[in-house]
Amino acid sequence: MKRILTGDRPTGPLHLGHYVGSLENRVKFQDDYDSYILIADVQALTDNFDNPEKVRLNTLQVLLDNISVGLDPQKVTFHLQSAIPQIAELTIFYANLVSIARLERNPTVKDEIAQKADKFKGSLTLGFLMYPVSQAADITIVKGEIVPVGEDQVPHIEQAREIVRKFNSIYGNVFPEPEVLLSENRRLVGTDGNAKMSKSIGNCIYLSDTVESVNEKVKNMYTDPNRIRATDPGRVEGNPVFIYHDIFNPNKPEVEGLKSRYLKGAVGDVEVKQKLAIAINTFLEPIRERRSKFEDPQKLMEILDAGTKKAQKIAQETMKEVKDAMGIYLVK
Ligand code: TRP
Repeated sequence: MKRILTGDRPTGPLHLGHYVGSLENRVKFQDDYDSYILIADVQALTDNFDNPEKVRLNTLQVLLDNISVGLDPQKVTFHLQSAIPQIAELTIFYANLVSIARLERNPTVKDEIAQKADKFKGSLTLGFLMYPVSQAADITIVKGEIVPVGEDQVPHIEQAREIVRKFNSIYGNVFPEPEVLLSENRRLVGTDGNAKMSKSIGNCIYLSDTVESVNEKVKNMYTDPNRIRATDPGRVEGNPVFIYHDIFNPNKPEVEGLKSRYLKGAVGDVEVKQKLAIAINTFLEPIRERRSKFEDPQKLMEILDAGTKKAQKIAQETMKEVKDAMGIYLVK
């Protein structure tokens, strides 16, 4: 069985964008791959170093979000980054294989720095700039081969591949080159029409949202800005409400009917949104049910503890191989 490694930063609840980008694939492939899911609390600290409590409080929530979508803790190994010091150790070795210029060219890191200008302007930290190096260690410490992620993570996996190639060519063949597994819908627009659903923008529908909250968020969704009355012909393409209908509403005839009426100006936004809210709530219903079954913090801690112990063993073995390959340790 090939090994999957992917992960999440525990900085807040997971949302529909995470589902579309990665969670759906995690569920789909949990039977066919040996799957490892990392709760990346150390990476979360790179831009939350001044608020470790936020990271700690979100750790079990993010685990619960993963389980709620149908990931089975019997099949999938959930592990906690801060409990695996070999990741930090490997990061330091990898840091020699990456130039600062290369890190500064990473488009996702660039976007994030621009977004967090208040925090990083003129004082970008080493930790944040190099988190993709640490992410390469996350993946390779368990010899991950397949990495199911959203589109924004592709530059990081590309960097991980470069690091692996360089490591293997200098020290000997220790690591497989990880491959990205992209989902069919690579990214989900926000409820405000922004290209990306993101907590920091505040345009998210969370997996843990209540029915009322989903209704409210859908009611306020961005549609076709040029359409003023229900009798005006509207745009379907690129319209967030219809993008969501296409993904979350399994009733295709209903969606097609709404689209053709929308194009003609024969349906109001209210009806389109009401049907969307029903579709999203129906989609979330089984997720809410699983969440309520696993909501016990003690049970969650046991899952995380068992998974972390399993990953720790693998990390120790990998680190042994790394040190042997590098041949620099006289004292073991
Ligand atoms: N950077 C990822 C995110 O922001 C989280 C992550 C950490 C990750 N380590 C990983 C993803 C390793 C894939 C593989 O969502």
